[in-house]
Amino acid sequence: MLSTLSVLPPDPILGLAATCRADTNPDKIDLTVGIYMDENGICPVFEAVQMAQRALIAEEVTKAYLPAAGDQMFLDQMKGLVFGDELVGDGQHITAIQTPGGCGAIRIASEVLAEASPDATVWVSNPTWPVHIPLLGSVGLKFATYRYYDPASHGVDFEVMVDDLKGARAGDIVLLHGCCHNPSGADLTLDQWSAIADLAESQGFTVLIDLAYLGMGKDLEVDAAGLRLMASRLGEVIVAASCSKNLGLYRERTGTALFFGRNSQTAAATQSHGLGAARRVYSMPPAHGALLAGRVLSDPELRASWEAELAGICARMNLLRNTFSERLTARTDRDFAFISRENGMFSFLGLSVEQAQSLRASRGLYMLDSSRINVAALNDHNMDLVVEAVASVL
Ligand SMILES: Cc1ncc(COP(=O)(O)O)c(C=O)c1O
Repeated sequence: MLSTLSVLPPDPILGLAATCRADTNPDKIDLTVGIYMDENGICPVFEAVQMAQRALIAEEVTKAYLPAAGDQMFLDQMKGLVFGDELVGDGQHITAIQTPGGCGAIRIASEVLAEASPDATVWVSNPTWPVHIPLLGSVGLKFATYRYYDPASHGVDFEVMVDDLKGARAGDIVLLHGCCHNPSGADLTLDQWSAIADLAESQGFTVLIDLAYLGMGKDLEVDAAGLRLMASRLGEVIVAASCSKNLGLYRERTGTALFFGRNSQTAAATQSHGLGAARRVYSMPPAHGALLAGRVLSDPELRASWEAELAGICARMNLLRNTFSERLTARTDRDFAFISRENGMFSFLGLSVEQAQSLRASRGLYMLDSSRINVAALNDHNMDLVVEAVASVL
């Protein structure tokens, strides 16, 4: 039977990262994959996570399954981290399900949404993170795109976004990036979040928010402001939160599907659908990352250490953005100030596919064909090389 299969094309992002790993050029620079890297090109383990890990290993007496919904301490902390104490209140209106990473959260959310609204169309930004399509589409939901990023102005074209979203009907789902839009780095302002809430109210669509970079744009509060506005205005919102980047738990597969609903009855029904989906997709959640995250978020000392380290990471990325945009602007005849206005790990450099490919072939400088780069992979050692390389193709 397996001989009927043919080889699929490689994943566009992971495939390129593999090509870069295999490249023997000693001066190669990899700006493709979305992981945070420090000044030495290392993706570090947070100090607070290391402390939590030591304590967990010393105390752990069993590897028995967690409860199906996940570790309660972790889930309670995630509700507070994402929605804030005021919106959480007694928490009975929020369903939280621990998932394998943010991807698992998107998949569980899409399973539940497909059961609630089988004919829904999911509206995704153009462009969006490519993995959204298989994650949401695997349950049979249809797609439409709304225009979002304008390459000419290097920002959100909000007017056309609104025009397109006027086509979203009651029962449809609009996917928004909570902060640090991947791949563009261009985020909505709070006024724009509010205008989308107006549309959701008048047209009756549901908002699903992918929150993979909380605390990596401006700070934990500012980055959550848009989704909190949505939750308080609409009374119903779904969030897929990842702990991969902001807690550095990439390989531990730690995330949460959060369903902010109107009351505890809705929450109970949502929970039963979410648990049913989890049972048929992966059965039980992985424990290690969530047990670490639960400790870090709930222990005042670990929490303070984590918040300080995350704030440092965020500040470093914003400094890299400023320095890189200044150096590129000074070295070329283009204005790259937009890089310092954008948030999180990613920006498009505004190069053509040919330019991006030629940088790969001639300089060993790897970025996606769309010229999306991971700003967090820049550092003092490689920044000038990258600036020179980019200038050489302009
Ligand atoms: C936009 C976006 N959403 C979700 C995720 C989910 O990541 P993970 O499943 O590793 O938590 C990522 C990771 O790169 C992402 O960039």
